[in-house]
Amino acid sequence: MDIVLSQRMEGYEEGVFQALNEMLKTRLSRGEKVYDFTVGTPDFEAALYVREAVAKAAADPENYKYSLGDMPELTKALTDRYESRYGVKISASNIASVYGSQEGMAHVAFPFCNPGDVVLVPDPGYPIFSMGPAMAGAKIVKYDLYREKNYILDLADIPEETARAAKMIIVSYPLNPVCTAAPYDFYKDLIAWAKKYQVLVLHDNAYSDIIFDGRKGISFLSLPGAMEVGVEFYSLSKSYNLTGARVSFLIGNEKMVGSFKRFRSQFDYGLFKVVQYAAIAALTLGDEDVRKQCEEYQRRRDLLCGGFRKLGWDMPDSEGTMFAWGAIPAKGMGSVDFVKDLFEKTGVLCTPGISFGARGEGYVRFALNHDEAMIRQALEAAGSYS
Ligand SMILES: Cc1ncc(COP(=O)(O)O)c(C=O)c1O
Repeated sequence: MDIVLSQRMEGYEEGVFQALNEMLKTRLSRGEKVYDFTVGTPDFEAALYVREAVAKAAADPENYKYSLGDMPELTKALTDRYESRYGVKISASNIASVYGSQEGMAHVAFPFCNPGDVVLVPDPGYPIFSMGPAMAGAKIVKYDLYREKNYILDLADIPEETARAAKMIIVSYPLNPVCTAAPYDFYKDLIAWAKKYQVLVLHDNAYSDIIFDGRKGISFLSLPGAMEVGVEFYSLSKSYNLTGARVSFLIGNEKMVGSFKRFRSQFDYGLFKVVQYAAIAALTLGDEDVRKQCEEYQRRRDLLCGGFRKLGWDMPDSEGTMFAWGAIPAKGMGSVDFVKDLFEKTGVLCTPGISFGARGEGYVRFALNHDEAMIRQALEAAGSYS
């Protein structure tokens, strides 16, 4: 039988990543060294107290039933953490748990956008910001970010008619892949702009716990008026090394959160209780570990960005996230060709900037997912590139 796919599937090509994966497998099969800086999965372990909580919960057969919602202990752990860490007061009606921000992003536009409604997303930016609302039929309009403006959205760059047409805007700082953090005033201006043009704000708060040089990671919701206009995703993936556990929360405006829950209740029966216990342990016991880990990321950042600069690359120090972002040193080469060339010649693999949007062309992204010894080896290997 001829299996005919929907037109929708045309937008879901694996493209460059499939090709890079093949190159990686080939090199590994030849027994050659590979330094893979593409994956945004922390190499750090989940804390022992989280694993113990999981083991205990996993032994109880009651925890295998549909959870049908968050346990009160989880709500308390999250509300306490939001208050102590960010100074934000929330309650159960401001919270929707979800199996990761990635999945949340895939669904977040459904309750708010009719087909054709405009959603503004950053370029460069994390791909699901566009892909998610596009699945809901929204019209994606990219807002360009400029290195000269430190990749901070300048609201004055959004044309009046685009602002008037927009239903939702997605922002996220510190921003993957460009690694810059937004100043407090940016959020103030954003909220005023959102009110003026009646645009819903969605902030992806994936990296406020991984922020460097004394910068303060904040929640968008800590700004006056934020709860009136928007919501944010708060994922435990990166702060607590729980990428595989799939746990995140949509937090903020009660009507938006309630509608998101109503939409998801059509197919979601609640987080696996074992995962809920993992989240409770992380949120209640993790503060000190989160801080220490951020320091380790900063040491890696110093080494990697500083090391590439010594090699002549243009790679500023990341201000936050678990990544680094640099201009490709080879003149006139596109980011995909450069990534392939660098990998073939040195075994160092990074992500082409073009995969984060047209404005990412000319750049590459490195994940800070290896220890310092491995970063030193990779720098040495990259030093032989010509
Ligand atoms: C900006 C951003 N948002 C969301 C995610 C995915 O988070 P989760 O694991 O909660 O789906 C990532 C993962 O790299 C990310 O970089």
